[in-house]
Amino acid sequence: MREIKRNPPCSRFPPTLRNDNDIDTRTKHTTMSSSSYDPAIRKLDELLKMKHLLPKEAAAMLDTVSSLVDKRESYCARMTTEESPALTKIREAAGTSRMATNHLEGQFLKTLVSMTRAKKILEVGLFFGHGALAMAEAIPADGTVVSCEIGAEQVEKTQKLLDQSPHGKKIQIKQGPAKDTLLKLAEEGDTFDFIFVDADKQSQEEYYKVRMMNNDAVSQIIHHVHLR
Ligand SMILES: C[S@@+](CC[C@H](N)C(=O)[O-])C[C@H]1O[C@@H](n2cnc3c(N)ncnc32)[C@H](O)[C@@H]1O
Repeated sequence: MREIKRNPPCSRFPPTLRNDNDIDTRTKHTTMSSSSYDPAIRKLDELLKMKHLLPKEAAAMLDTVSSLVDKRESYCARMTTEESPALTKIREAAGTSRMATNHLEGQFLKTLVSMTRAKKILEVGLFFGHGALAMAEAIPADGTVVSCEIGAEQVEKTQKLLDQSPHGKKIQIKQGPAKDTLLKLAEEGDTFDFIFVDADKQSQEEYYKVRMMNNDAVSQIIHHVHLR
């Protein structure tokens, strides 16, 4: 019988956390919800704050739901491939900001990029570069991630971090509003295999226009990743 190999536990989790029933308190949604994009989890948190108003049975049911969410979080994190030390460093630099992609989302992006064999990637919204670096790690040595970031200070901070990472040189940062950058890239005839839109959702229509200008260039566009 073939042995099924499990991934090593993610570095964010203590090595003792082996049992599916164990819950790492760092994933408890009561504490992570402020950093969660998932509207269901945020609503669940609102409800938890009102637990004292609920009848006993409903409160107990709420605890069960909350515990199931925690178990799911723990399970996903433990079963996801461990990230590189460079990615961990960048994720930690972003702190608890809910703007940054998390470990799970980073690895998901990496998987998508590998699956589509993308070589040239465009990202709208760099922040500390967690998503950009995850994607850069999945492309070949001569591949490129072009990432748009509006904040000049943010660009400076992120560039320093990326300079210290082995795959950081594959990332080209374009500072300024993404819409302007995209128009310029399109005018220059630039094309991309994979696009990750993670900012400035209001301009999405414009992005599609640019995409049309690029015609057959784009095979994949991912609008944000909501894994929790
Ligand atoms: C959600 S964060 C991006 C997170 C990042 N993709 C990651 O994987 O961690 C959005 C980033 O986009 C930047 N941003 C917001 N509006 C923008 C715009 N119009 N053009 C370029 N960047 C923008 C913000 O400054 C912020 O750093």
